Amino acid sequence: MKEPALPVRIRRLAEQDAPAVACLEAQCLSMPWSERAFADLAKDGNSIGLVAEWERRVVGFASLTGLSGEGEVNNVATDPAFRCRGVAGALLEELFRQGGEMGISDFTLEVRAGNAAAIHLYERLGFQSAGIRPRFYEKPVEDAMIMWRRSKPTIPTSF
Ligand SMILES: CC(C)(COP(=O)(O)OP(=O)(O)OC[C@H]1O[C@@H](n2cnc3c(N)ncnc32)[C@H](O)[C@@H]1OP(=O)(O)O)[C@@H](O)C(=O)NCCC(=O)NCCS
Repeated sequence: MKEPALPVRIRRLAEQDAPAVACLEAQCLSMPWSERAFADLAKDGNSIGLVAEWERRVVGFASLTGLSGEGEVNNVATDPAFRCRGVAGALLEELFRQGGEMGISDFTLEVRAGNAAAIHLYERLGFQSAGIRPRFYEKPVEDAMIMWRRSKPTIPTSF
């Protein structure tokens, strides 16, 4: 049976969160960002970092960097003890909302081609596969699926 959604508080990343977020990512990803990278992200005016807190504990993180109206989702991670309870979904919905306020309408990301949980989540939130980047990831080597979530469908052009 599916567990109920975790009632997390979602707030903007602050420089002081960098150690906790780096620690969370190290538990979740084979190529995690450094503490320094998260501290820099918190100060970057073109980026949005969001932390999900439950009982004052950081249980999830997501971020994006905006460029020319497009947003690259960089990191998405949920503490293994709190997965499948809507944490990443809630973070991403809020990321799209705040991204929209920055003028971002289209979002993209890369995901390991074998990461079924993440691909399921992204498809549920409206992302579609747009191709494969062969052997993009290391540790272990794996293809990346490139995904896009566009506000308006792209219309194929004929010549
Ligand atoms: C991917 C990740 C961020 C999802 O976090 P989460 O908080 O569990 O996400 P949510 O609970 O919002 O949604 C997870 C969805 O995946 C589904 N899911 C879980 N395991 C699955 C699997 N093996 N296959 C298919 N779907 C799966 C859940 O049922 C849920 O879907 P639903 O809401 O339709 O039932 C988390 O698993 C994680 O941190 N993984 C390691 C880091 C990572 O891979 N990040 C993504 C990098 S691109």
